[in-house]
Amino acid sequence: MRLVIMGPPGAGKGTQSAMIAQRFSIPHVSTGDIFRKNLKEGTPLGMKAKEYMSKGLLVPDETVVAIVKDRLDEKDCKKGFLLDGFPRTVAQAVALDGVLTDMDMSIDHVLNIDVPKEVLIERAVGRRVCKACGATYHVMYNSPSREGLCDSCGGALIQREDDREETVVKRIEVYLEQTKPLIDYYSEKGLLISMDGGQGIKEVGDQIVKALEKRQ
Ligand code: AP5
Ligand code: MG
Ligand code: ZN
Repeated sequence: MRLVIMGPPGAGKGTQSAMIAQRFSIPHVSTGDIFRKNLKEGTPLGMKAKEYMSKGLLVPDETVVAIVKDRLDEKDCKKGFLLDGFPRTVAQAVALDGVLTDMDMSIDHVLNIDVPKEVLIERAVGRRVCKACGATYHVMYNSPSREGLCDSCGGALIQREDDREETVVKRIEVYLEQTKPLIDYYSEKGLLISMDGGQGIKEVGDQIVKALEKRQ
């Protein structure tokens, strides 16, 4: 199964992606996670991405497309994949179509997590991530059993640098302007499945699994 998951910042893409990847045994490819990993390792790509990410802006299309192309070329993506946070502009979506056509592939479904704007800020600002393994928590909605520590690996939980309220507001603006038009792009191709992301983590997950199983 080849999937894209989209939705505004803090909608729950990463949270649901972890569940979907496990359930359907496909790799979870998150461009945001790739950039954060590079940043942690201090690579030139990480340094370049930081300039944009810290301001809540998008990394240039050609940089992101090249990374995704390389990642899709890896062996584990032969059995399918879940793209999280990519594509994020119409230009990226068109480029992705071209990359996949060259590989004799196409996207099967695009999951769109719809969440009201007021909820997004609260979700992003309350998010905590594990410094070691990247697992995602929320101070209110998905708290770890031991405060400040990851349930899976015991690592320290930290706040993402771009989760300060003013940066989140900017990211939402950028989403509305540059990413939201993709809803029409994929809807016209008959690929879009929209979810009500305003419910709890489990309820949203159940909607996704139900929708995907029906179409398998
Ligand atoms: P990226 O890392 O992709 O960030 P994003 O799209 O802004 O989305 P988030 O990761 O913030 O949110 P999410 O939807 O994954 O929510 P989560 O599951 O964590 O991108 C970061 C940056 O990298 C971009 O700003 C850009 O600079 C750059 N970048 C990345 N891709 C790019 C691209 N293609 N092109 C250009 N630049 C790119 O959930 C959020 C919180 O809510 C968590 O605490 C979670 O526990 C909680 N939660 C989740 N679901 C629920 C629920 N149903 N109820 C209650 N709480 C919930
Ligand atoms: Mg995410
Ligand atoms: Zn961890």
